[in-house]
Amino acid sequence: MSAVLGYRSFGAADVQEFFDRPDPSPGPAEVLVRVAAAGVNPLDHLLRSGHVRELNGHVPFPQVLGMEAAGTVLAVGDEVTGLAVGDRVTGFALTGAGTYAGTTLLLAASTARIPDALPETWAATIPVSGTTALDVLDQLAPPDGAALLVNGIGGGVGSAVARMARDRGLVVVGTGSAAKRDRATAVGAIFVDYAAADLMDRLRTYAPDGFAAVVDTVGGTSLRTVAPLATTPDALVSVGDPSVTELGGAFVRRRLDRSGLERVADLMVTGRLDPAVTATYPLARAGEALALVESGHAPGKLVIDMAL
Ligand SMILES: NC(=O)c1ccc[n+]([C@@H]2O[C@H](COP(=O)([O-])OP(=O)(O)OC[C@H]3O[C@@H](n4cnc5c(N)ncnc54)[C@H](OP(=O)(O)O)[C@@H]3O)[C@@H](O)[C@H]2O)c1
Repeated sequence: MSAVLGYRSFGAADVQEFFDRPDPSPGPAEVLVRVAAAGVNPLDHLLRSGHVRELNGHVPFPQVLGMEAAGTVLAVGDEVTGLAVGDRVTGFALTGAGTYAGTTLLLAASTARIPDALPETWAATIPVSGTTALDVLDQLAPPDGAALLVNGIGGGVGSAVARMARDRGLVVVGTGSAAKRDRATAVGAIFVDYAAADLMDRLRTYAPDGFAAVVDTVGGTSLRTVAPLATTPDALVSVGDPSVTELGGAFVRRRLDRSGLERVADLMVTGRLDPAVTATYPLARAGEALALVESGHAPGKLVIDMAL
């Protein structure tokens, strides 16, 4: 039995409630994990509010918040290979099983062991922000030294994209609110305030012939504003707005595999990727963390730490 934060109907934050749940039994391709840390992501509130019912409309209530966690394996399903009881892991939860929870079920194919030196509060950010950043950069594959624009550099995904891109030798320019300037410059990116009246002129000065790659994490009007800055339409990929295809760009292709998780974990333990966790919360205050993310302007990457 463990405490969880979930909901019994779709709705706004007021449908969230704490309750106790018996430890679930893993299906053949799942592992039961004692959660040490869980990442807080925009998808958590989108699932709760019923905005993405194609993902969780079929899942019985109560559903539990959270998509990603790091922790220790307590039990493995019959068909699971490469993971064993006692392993420290990070991975994606079964939809609705949630990770704002003492224990949960992770999908074995989307779960990887983590190095001993990697703290769970970092590892918990690998599945969503970490591997999304990896996937989008692999998809765009800009050449060494090329200019990359990150629209929304202050967020969990944008910040990880910027760090990985710098590590790959790219020139990184990113947009954010003034509060995100230090986060961006700390990783060697050029920062441009998206509220600047001359935003487009400023961005063009850094890539007069266009950006070889544009990663959008914001979507909507903001995506449409920066889209023309890509050298060609297929140099534009959005991680959050599928309507990017109307502009000739592509939506991120997600792999959700074990090897992507391992690659990001390796970047972290070798000092090439700091997930820049700006705040950790006890489970009892998980709702506060999610409210900040739901505002669209979280101060950075937020993580629930079960040890608090
Ligand atoms: N496809 C996938 O598998 C996948 C995976 C992860 C995330 N996503 C999606 O990607 C999006 C971003 O996720 P995230 O985890 O990075 O979110 P996040 O950590 O909450 O960050 C969102 C960021 O957007 C910035 N922002 C808001 N309006 C902006 C604007 N007009 N211009 C530039 N920046 C702006 C905010 O910065 P300021 O405070 O500076 O405004 C904030 O830092 C979400 O839509 C999420 O659902 C998709």
